[in-house]
Amino acid sequence: MKKTSIAVLVSGGGTNLQALIDAQSRGELEHGEIKLVISNKPGAYALERAEKADIPTKVITRKDCGGQEGFEQALREALAEAEIDLIILAGFMTILSADFTKNYPRRILNVHPALIPSFCGKGMYGLRVHEAALSYGVKVTGATVHFVNEIPDGGEILLQKPVYIEAGDTPETLQRRVMEQAEWVILPQAAELVSRQIMEEKEKRHD
Ligand code: GAR
Repeated sequence: MKKTSIAVLVSGGGTNLQALIDAQSRGELEHGEIKLVISNKPGAYALERAEKADIPTKVITRKDCGGQEGFEQALREALAEAEIDLIILAGFMTILSADFTKNYPRRILNVHPALIPSFCGKGMYGLRVHEAALSYGVKVTGATVHFVNEIPDGGEILLQKPVYIEAGDTPETLQRRVMEQAEWVILPQAAELVSRQIMEEKEKRHD
């Protein structure tokens, strides 16, 4: 039976993409295969990571597509052409519309650098999340992997992992620790979990 075909959507450095690539090369992504990396930012370092791992890449920008509608249409076409079963948002810094997400129920995963429902939703991304956690004064933060629906950061939670705040933390030190201790651990785990579920569903349909 064919493995679950995965597309990873990125916008930046791509350390979470790297964690997925590394998990795949260690044999930990047993039921899935990363088939495509799509960036909405032309110079994203994540694209280089994909190329080094021999994974096909595509750049799709809102500007080139004349706005959000055209952008999402181009995304849908690229995903269909590569016969993608599972979409993983790994530092993808743009919100997808309900029109887009409704086409992929329980087929889009996102990693968020906090324990949802804390420090999430529109405008909460990247370093801003860690700035908010530190200024609130929480003692524990972490990361969440969840399904994506029409509510930003509002879909069903799959995995979470806590990370302690340390004295003297800055947004940057906290971001790094949350990545190392939580995001890079639970994102590959969730990718494998859902890839296995999708394969099992396909097998059932062919019984
Ligand atoms: C990660 O911390 C990811 O959780 C966060 O951006 C960073 C991307 O880093 N995503 C969000 O804040 C989405 N709401 P990466 O490009 O090195 O994976």
